[in-house]
Amino acid sequence: MKLNAQILAAFNEGFEAAKAGGVHDATAMIVSTRHENGEGVSARTVLLKAVNEQGFVFYTNTLSNKGRQLSTYPVACLVFPWLEIERQVIVEGRVEAVSDAEADAYFASRPRGSQIGAWASQQSSRLNQRADFEQAIEDTEARFGEGDVPRPPHWSGYRVIPNMVEFWYGRDHRLHDRHRWTLEQGEWLETLLYP
Ligand SMILES: Cc1cc2nc3c(=O)[nH]c(=O)nc-3n(C[C@H](O)[C@H](O)[C@H](O)COP(=O)(O)O)c2cc1C
Repeated sequence: MKLNAQILAAFNEGFEAAKAGGVHDATAMIVSTRHENGEGVSARTVLLKAVNEQGFVFYTNTLSNKGRQLSTYPVACLVFPWLEIERQVIVEGRVEAVSDAEADAYFASRPRGSQIGAWASQQSSRLNQRADFEQAIEDTEARFGEGDVPRPPHWSGYRVIPNMVEFWYGRDHRLHDRHRWTLEQGEWLETLLYP
């Protein structure tokens, strides 16, 4: 289900306020996912690379912990901690891989060093010593020479397609304001919550 215009506008307004209000990187968001054995959760920071009515997109190694967890449980929770402006946005939803064309286009826009790194890093796998990673980078540079670096097959994007979006606005004396949007039978409903 697509985000409605009001939710998207509220997110974009918050994002602009975060940038103007000194948030170091307003695209930084915590992504939590469920362990493959179902018995725990993991969380880590990633960067938001696209947002529109379809959802929230980030890019990563699909063989990483999060990638493997998402292939077993394609659900996630995102938190944007815009602390400097006393705001927070929380998103919950199901997760889908972006299309190859979308991932290719984004990968092609990345700096060459990041493209090389995407090939050289076996993200979340055990690294015996730092020198092994540096060697993998050198090998990757030699492999591609001066040519274009294609997107690795194990590197792509995930789109979180929300079924819940909550906007938290800090207020004096902890009388905060919470607006929670939930999808109910195909309709977005807004509810106020006690802080
Ligand atoms: C500010 C910041 C931004 C990050 N952005 C990304 C990102 O966009 N994609 C990514 O795969 N990892 C990113 N990372 C690294 C992740 O936090 C994490 O260490 C990595 O993705 C491995 O996570 P996993 O083992 O849970 O899969 C970022 C870390 C920080 C601190």
